Amino acid sequence: MEQQQPHFLLVTYPSHGHINPALQFANRLIHLGGGGRRVHVTFAITISAHRRMIKSPPPDGLSFATFSDGYDDGFKLEDKMQEYLDQLKRNGTKALTELIVSNANQGRPFTCLVYTLLIPWAAEVARELHLPSTLFWIQPAMVLDIYYYYYNGFADVIGNCNNDPSHSIQLPGLPLLNSRELPSFMLASNTYDYLLPIFQADLEALEKLSKPRVLVNTFDALEIEALKAIEKLNLVAVGPLIPSAYLDERDPSNGSKDYMEWLNSKPESSVIYVSFGSISVLMEQQMEQIARGLLDCGRPFLWVIRAKENGEEEKLSCRKELEEKGMIVPWCSQVYVLSHPSVGCFVTHCGWNSTLEALFSGVPMVAFPQWSDQGTNAKLIEDVLKTGVKVTANNDGIVVGDEIKRCLELVVGDEEREKEIRRNAMKWKELSREAVNQGGSSYSNLKAFVDECCG
Ligand code: UDX
Repeated sequence: MEQQQPHFLLVTYPSHGHINPALQFANRLIHLGGGGRRVHVTFAITISAHRRMIKSPPPDGLSFATFSDGYDDGFKLEDKMQEYLDQLKRNGTKALTELIVSNANQGRPFTCLVYTLLIPWAAEVARELHLPSTLFWIQPAMVLDIYYYYYNGFADVIGNCNNDPSHSIQLPGLPLLNSRELPSFMLASNTYDYLLPIFQADLEALEKLSKPRVLVNTFDALEIEALKAIEKLNLVAVGPLIPSAYLDERDPSNGSKDYMEWLNSKPESSVIYVSFGSISVLMEQQMEQIARGLLDCGRPFLWVIRAKENGEEEKLSCRKELEEKGMIVPWCSQVYVLSHPSVGCFVTHCGWNSTLEALFSGVPMVAFPQWSDQGTNAKLIEDVLKTGVKVTANNDGIVVGDEIKRCLELVVGDEEREKEIRRNAMKWKELSREAVNQGGSSYSNLKAFVDECCG
């Protein structure tokens, strides 16, 4: 009888920060086949997310199953997030159920479902259909720990520290944290109330498993204590999963890579790269201050300013001067930019993918967190990994140009502290590569996962 080949079903919340590491996760699973074992991955994805990523055929072993979330032209900021999540749940539950059943009927059953956060309904579907499932956590282990503590006895402690930066809390196994270093959804100022129950459902779904195990996009050397902080949860590091070139097709400059040529023309480590990821939208006043800081710093810069939802270009009073001194692009292939030798510093919103990509390339950071896990990630960057400095906002919540210039000079300057930041960045570059290379900790952890799933 022909041996059943391993077939993984992967489903993510349809945003860049989830899809990017999941695609790389799929690639790794496929490469861990061999020895008569051919791993296949089916990536279930919404029509709009699929449309914005694929222009070339997927690699061997990977296929896509698309479904409609009801927003086939894409989810826009003016659409209501809560309604979107409800609809995604309804449509996704139906689509995933049909997919699992029809694959079983066609003799190509799935071995395991792997899903990312914000879609706990995926675990529910797997449970109903008796398919093993595993959560793939795309943020640091430390953030998962904080959510876990929040729902398991520490909600009041965390609540008490709300919005008082002088008040710090000590959660078991984690560094001392103040309110700005907690996930933003836990703060009194949070306007996304409906997200906390979804994170809770993510964790509750784990409790229904006989052996709760979470695959985390991190690596042992980076978060050894956070990975072990919670006895009841087996957190397994499988990262850093740095994206493939796949999503770069989103580049709205129609594939033009003028910015790479521009980078080629700059001296080593001289360029400041600025990007706030795929979701954050900054206030106009904040954009003007960033422009001021960059111009005053006097170094060349590459700044990603995404077009507004209505396609309008960001109107900056000094746009002309900015374009003389630096380069502004609507999107770029970030992994290529960060690995370019002329890039010396990354001003980042600290999305976890951006953070890992900077570590993997050995680029020091100016941490400029916005929301969600980013305050916690900034804490890691500045205080734990020591590969960057964090900006401080004024009383109106704005980070002024002088503060940005101060932080840039701290990272790219030549004093002892800056040298130490650069040394640390190189250290994390080596350690992150070691983890994913053959025989490294994350490589071995992922291989053990595949071996276990394949029985
Ligand atoms: C979201 C959340 O905001 C973040 O806090 C969480 O950790 C992950 O999910 P996002 O804000 O998009 O993600 O940030 P990030 O995690 O950094 O992911 C952005 C991805 O887009 C990165 O892989 C980055 O390489 C890519 N990117 C960004 C580009 O390829 N080009 C760009 O111009 C900008």
